[in-house]
Amino acid sequence: MFENCSIVYGSANPKLARKIAKYLNTSSCKASGRFSDGEVRIKLTESVRRKTVYVIQPTNPSGDNILELCFMIDAARRGSASEITAVVPYFGYARQDRTARPGEPISAAMAAGMIQYAGADRIVTIDLHSEQLTGAVTIPLDNLYASRVLIPKLKSYLKRNVVVVSPDRGGFKRANAYAKRLNASGMALIFKNRDLNVNDQTESQDIIGKVKGCDALIVDDIWSSGSTIKSAVDILLEKGANKIVVAVTHGLFAGKSLDIIKNPAIKKIFVTDTISHASKIAHNRKIEVVSIAELLAEAIGRIQSGKPLREIFDVEQN
Ligand code: R5P
Repeated sequence: MFENCSIVYGSANPKLARKIAKYLNTSSCKASGRFSDGEVRIKLTESVRRKTVYVIQPTNPSGDNILELCFMIDAARRGSASEITAVVPYFGYARQDRTARPGEPISAAMAAGMIQYAGADRIVTIDLHSEQLTGAVTIPLDNLYASRVLIPKLKSYLKRNVVVVSPDRGGFKRANAYAKRLNASGMALIFKNRDLNVNDQTESQDIIGKVKGCDALIVDDIWSSGSTIKSAVDILLEKGANKIVVAVTHGLFAGKSLDIIKNPAIKKIFVTDTISHASKIAHNRKIEVVSIAELLAEAIGRIQSGKPLREIFDVEQN
């Protein structure tokens, strides 16, 4: 099946790329390096002429990783690949999907435009932050859900019923899908305010739903500064919740954001490997990294063989 295709990756998450290739029982090769001045240097080490090419690269941290992705796509296009799929497990800049204040760009649309301009024929991603972004993409975009791998783990970890909590209004649909699948005893929605003038500062103002005496599962797509999770934990404890478990797809874990897990009420954090984690994260006993490699391998296998992807979508989330 993989005779006529190539899997290439950059420096953002080589471990994930190699794991995907292993599931597909095929080889993969790293295509990125640096010139002596620090600029990104791409070289495809084998011919891609008339091959389908899967370029695997999350775009966090931003900057060079999106450039590497675009340059690898460009190299494949100029090398006469027959079709190029950008596999972007974490789609960076997706949160900047509107001009929140005058003078701001729509960085999400720019990031999507760059990938398309480079020559990708298709994008595969996981838990895209903003569904609005699909409107800025004119090539096929498959947005897979990490719930497919997180829910089985949560099912075996959560011993008693939990209340599933969305830490903000934007995440309610996702949390609702988790609640249904986990047969949760209830749901809660937090009203979060973010001060746009102060980077990353959020405040949980209020909560709808009963959490007193209950264990809570907070479900979110991104953990960046940790401010959203911290303020959610604060309000949950204030309202009488017991133990807290967190399930998050993309663990950016910026700066000292992990300090909050010292809070004894937080028992466990489930996170995927869309982003490469430092070993202190991967080996933290409160954190369980759940791999999305098999899900992405399955998606690639289906694209390659022309099978529909709908069977591997968690449709309830739509
Ligand atoms: C926001 O809409 C997202 O779903 C996440 O809640 C947010 O991006 C998390 O960011 P932070 O960890 O910086 O609060």
